[in-house]
Amino acid sequence: MWRIVAVDSALLNGVSEHLMLMKGKMLRPTLLLLSSEVEQSAESRAAAYAAVVELIHLATLVHDDAVDHSVLRRGMPTINALFTHQVAVIAGDFLYSRAVQELVRLGDLEALRVFAKASNELTLGEMRQLSALDALQFSEDDYEFLIRAKTAALFSGACEVGALCGAARFRDRMAAYGSHLGMAFQVVDDLLDYTGASETVGKPTGLDLKEHKVTLPLIAALRTMPRSSREAVDALFATSEPDDTQISRVIGIVLEEGGLDYARERGEEYASRADEVLAGLPDSPARRALQDTLTYVMERRA
Ligand code: IPE
Ligand code: IPE
Ligand code: MG
Ligand code: MG
Repeated sequence: MWRIVAVDSALLNGVSEHLMLMKGKMLRPTLLLLSSEVEQSAESRAAAYAAVVELIHLATLVHDDAVDHSVLRRGMPTINALFTHQVAVIAGDFLYSRAVQELVRLGDLEALRVFAKASNELTLGEMRQLSALDALQFSEDDYEFLIRAKTAALFSGACEVGALCGAARFRDRMAAYGSHLGMAFQVVDDLLDYTGASETVGKPTGLDLKEHKVTLPLIAALRTMPRSSREAVDALFATSEPDDTQISRVIGIVLEEGGLDYARERGEEYASRADEVLAGLPDSPARRALQDTLTYVMERRA
């Protein structure tokens, strides 16, 4: 990753240094490498693609934190908090275009195609989230479409490119596994925004409600909540900067209405679909690790 981002600019190097220090879970590169090993014939170029996918992910995080006005990521200040909003915009573009340059250097048009498509889908997802006009009208179908674009697309691309580096005949299967896993991952991520503590999650929790983002727990809870609860939700969404009391109240309502349980079940469903896809692969250490990844994604607290 350092080789790809090194540049003659003190500011961009400063940004990269901060980003490398705040190392994340490295889930997408791990998935890419494991996917390249499902036939135990992985190629060495898989490592470069792993770096590329993490850089694309980093670019989206830098932009996402600016868009979401978030100050904490991976337990450290975000680029928009530590530097400025402007730096975050430019740095995200820098990381993304460096990733593209590396893809061009590697010269595999198929891998370029997969990542270009995933990156584009990601922006469509992020834009859709931003432009949801009446947030409380957001349906479960809208939510599914959104998380497929903003999260599952890159997970799927990581697994598909991994397969291209050593297990090409499983390309579609790995793409499908990555997509289901990505859906489960984002559902759990949205649950953690309700239930997690920011110290363990490494980013602010309760931020979705604060930013008027409607995710699956609330979508489910809205279906059954009594009028008085609905009024509290409406009040939060009518307040431009809701306070912690308002947010805790709505989190309590969502819990009461079973919204968290419902989202958890949907997450489990996606994970079991991913598991079914894996069943069609030959047994290997990589396949077993990909199975364990499902448990990790469903049980993670951070
Ligand atoms: C965060 O992804 C963005 C989402 C899709 C929710 P991760 O939770 O994989 O972030 P890092 O890379 O581990 O920080
Ligand atoms: C996930 O969006 C980031 C992308 C997939 C671009 P969120 O805004 O829901 O994720 P966090 O909570 O900031 O990680
Ligand atoms: Mg965010
Ligand atoms: Mg966001």
